[in-house]
Amino acid sequence: MDKLVVTGGTPLNGEVVISGAKNAAVAILPATLLIDGVCTIENLPNISDVKVSCKILEAIGAKITWNSENCITIDTRNVCCTEAPLDLTRKFRASYYLIGALLGRCRSVTVGMPGGCKLGARPIDQHIKGFEALGATVTVGQGNITAKAECLNATSIYMDVVSVGATINVMLAAVLANGTTIIDNAAKEPHVVDVANFLNTMGADIRGAGTDVIKVNGVERLVGNATYCVVPDQIEAGTFMLAAVASKGDIIIKNCITKHLECITAKVLEIGANAEDLGGDRIHVWCDKRPSKANIKTLPYPGFPTDLQPQMGVVLSMADGTSIINESIWESRFQYTDELNKMGAKITAQGKTAFFEGVDHLSGAPVYSSDLRAGAALIIAGICADGVTEIYNLEHIDRGYEHIEEKFRRLGANIVRVTED
Ligand code: UD1
Repeated sequence: MDKLVVTGGTPLNGEVVISGAKNAAVAILPATLLIDGVCTIENLPNISDVKVSCKILEAIGAKITWNSENCITIDTRNVCCTEAPLDLTRKFRASYYLIGALLGRCRSVTVGMPGGCKLGARPIDQHIKGFEALGATVTVGQGNITAKAECLNATSIYMDVVSVGATINVMLAAVLANGTTIIDNAAKEPHVVDVANFLNTMGADIRGAGTDVIKVNGVERLVGNATYCVVPDQIEAGTFMLAAVASKGDIIIKNCITKHLECITAKVLEIGANAEDLGGDRIHVWCDKRPSKANIKTLPYPGFPTDLQPQMGVVLSMADGTSIINESIWESRFQYTDELNKMGAKITAQGKTAFFEGVDHLSGAPVYSSDLRAGAALIIAGICADGVTEIYNLEHIDRGYEHIEEKFRRLGANIVRVTED
């Protein structure tokens, strides 16, 4: 079992380069199944969710060539299997994108019910509603989900909730459908736009991604024969911004899209820290005093992202005054607060609300990461704390952050990965 050992107390200082977006990559990889040809994907993050996605694609007949650790060429011409490996698909959340992609390509698909971080109930009713509206029959049973259609016919779908996954999944299923599908109340996250840009580069006709109405004009075929570069990871960039603030550091974050970070920048400024857009995909973040309290409500993009709530929680746990976070997306996203309390924080979580009574310092302790972003938050807490913090359950962190300890080490953090028997 691996653990991270963090000796805290050093403010972060220096430059960090952001990787490709996990949540875009895990959708773009299944999206390649809609292509009848070859394509190259650059800026893929080197994370375990990408590796599992590639294994699944290979298991159903795709041929993948690794050009470097961040670039693959994928040939999907021989994909014929419609049953994705059930054990692998149950391992992570984004395997649900295989449903939209294989339904679009083969009109038939079975996958294991998607796993992923345990953040509370994670229904997929809006995905199913979209597939059924396009003409598919969907059955759920024995831990699997199967979708079949004679043909897919375009329609208008109004999403009852703003869902990243359902928006992308229905977009995938609609790319090769007959006619124009309209997705209303669509999610606007940068990775929704990135998947649409990828599909359009490969020959699809999708308009309006990034607004709440997306129109997918069905095409006969995606020919591929193109190269696509995955968008920088908004959440990884935000994680480093908040790490700079929490540690009272001074860092420049490179290869990020500052527009995607506006809601984080606004909160950073509100609590008395500094953020400056340097142009050229760089942002400078620094903090020279104790942050002040703030209230946060997580919301779909362009609101404050739920995936940065735990990292912000670390900042507020050491802020001057009592802050309130309202988590409006996931019902169990405060598990990390128990771990921060072991480090001396004073946080009371009640349902979807948590109260952060700011303390002036945290102290190192053994802590357990309950999910991906909680793991990132615990690393930040360890960097700020007095003494040594040991972080366990690294498999969550490795799913979504590329070379995380190397990146923090280059910023001056004292962090090592240790393998224990
Ligand atoms: C994606 C992200 C995840 C992020 C989340 C919200 C990926 C791989 N994961 O997850 O990191 O935390 O967006 O930004 O991109 N909902 C329904 N019915 C559905 C689908 C969703 O009620 O069919 C609800 C969910 O319970 C949740 C909200 O809608 O309350 C948002 O979920 P959604 O955007 O779908 O999250 P994911 O796509 O699973």
